[in-house]
Amino acid sequence: MSKDMMKKIVSLCKRRGFVFQSSEIYGGLQSCWDYGPLGVELKNNIKKSWWKDIVSRRHNIVGMDTSIIMHPRIWEASGHVAEFSDPMVDCRKCKGRFRADDITGEVCPECGGELTEVRQFNLMFKTHMGPVEEDTSTVYLRPETCQSLFVNFQNVVTTSRQRLPFGIAQIGKSFRNEITPRNFTFRSREFEQMEMEFFCREEKTAQWFEYWLAERLRWYGEIGLRQESFRTREHGNDELAFYAKKAVDIEFKFPFLDGDFGELEGVHDRGVHDLSRQMEFSGEDLNYTDRITKEKFIPAVVETSGGVDRCVLAVLCDAYTEEEVDGEKRVVMKFNPDIAPIKVAILPLSKKPELMEPAARVEQMVRRHFDTFYDETQSIGRRYRRMDEVGTPYAVTFDFDSIKDKQVTVRDRDSLKQVRLPIENLVGFLDDLFEKKEWDETCRNMEQISRPDA
Ligand code: GAP
Repeated sequence: MSKDMMKKIVSLCKRRGFVFQSSEIYGGLQSCWDYGPLGVELKNNIKKSWWKDIVSRRHNIVGMDTSIIMHPRIWEASGHVAEFSDPMVDCRKCKGRFRADDITGEVCPECGGELTEVRQFNLMFKTHMGPVEEDTSTVYLRPETCQSLFVNFQNVVTTSRQRLPFGIAQIGKSFRNEITPRNFTFRSREFEQMEMEFFCREEKTAQWFEYWLAERLRWYGEIGLRQESFRTREHGNDELAFYAKKAVDIEFKFPFLDGDFGELEGVHDRGVHDLSRQMEFSGEDLNYTDRITKEKFIPAVVETSGGVDRCVLAVLCDAYTEEEVDGEKRVVMKFNPDIAPIKVAILPLSKKPELMEPAARVEQMVRRHFDTFYDETQSIGRRYRRMDEVGTPYAVTFDFDSIKDKQVTVRDRDSLKQVRLPIENLVGFLDDLFEKKEWDETCRNMEQISRPDA
């Protein structure tokens, strides 16, 4: 996939209501993005899938939802005030600002002007709390969601009665004043993270690290990313973040990287760094005391830290497909049905009241079970194409025969196969399809159910 492909994906996102530039009517705000009606559904489905996989289905992971602004000392303890910076250079001529590690030559890549010395630029957004702007009121927008989980460690242990090993998870906004935000939503200044901090005995860290890395790779496959689209890459010692003893990135082959891979998620061995530092700076005891063995110590942490926006972007890029059908080009978003923003389209064959009314009743029936979309404008072919472009896995057509025989036609987005079935069996059939995600087998099962002697 190429940069050209990326342009098409960005254009589809805007045209179909996945992602808009923030503050567009004012010329846009660089590096901030708004998710439209379909984008928010896709994003929510991804977040729900993550939450279910990480929190709901496990007895030893609990969730939290914490504040974005926290006590500023937290960021001194975490090391972000001193160390969370990127090397930056300015151009003396055009005043452009660049990450020093993005510059290959000696001069400004935009205008050829002279560059300043490299300086460290802290990526945290500062603001003031309360009516007076003075140094004592300085607070930060959190640059990662996990510190609030560390500072709540003792609260969670006492209230949820967890024993090691256990985890705390959160999905929430983070903010980084990136020097060069770019590549659509890939590097933004406001973004969402889905993070899980897994507390364990230090000697078990290596084992849990491998476990969580494998679990996260499995999940990316389950939400539909093709195996060849992502890979892992371990950080060299020179790249490790200041808190990490070991880090492996899960990377995706983003089209704008010309065949290269970019970070989707990091799995980190954070050791005892965070709890020790927060304990030192707050003066509070963040040791873990096992309620059975009475041992007291600071647990180590294995972290899985993914970007929601990067995951949405990866899903959009991976799903984008151009095909030729009967000599015509079709664009289809091949989302995994579980995360598709619209699950079922209900389409009357034409805009005739005798079709529209019963089709609307079918839509009401299906809507109780699945996210649906009812569309009666333009030709049926164009409506199918529109649903393909937003990745709707199944479309149900109500035609003139449906009035008499009480049957509808269901069309499969990927194979383009169609099947006709009684309206009373429709929800059951769709349920089976979503469960199995296999068109032919589901159709065969349905035939056997409706003709038990066959
Ligand atoms: N708590 C550890 C941590 O925050 P990170 O590698 O700095 O680790 C984790 O960030 C994930 O957050 C990244 O893998 C990426 O998906 C996402 N992320 C980081 N900076 C981002 C940005 N500027 N825009 C969008 N996503 C970002």
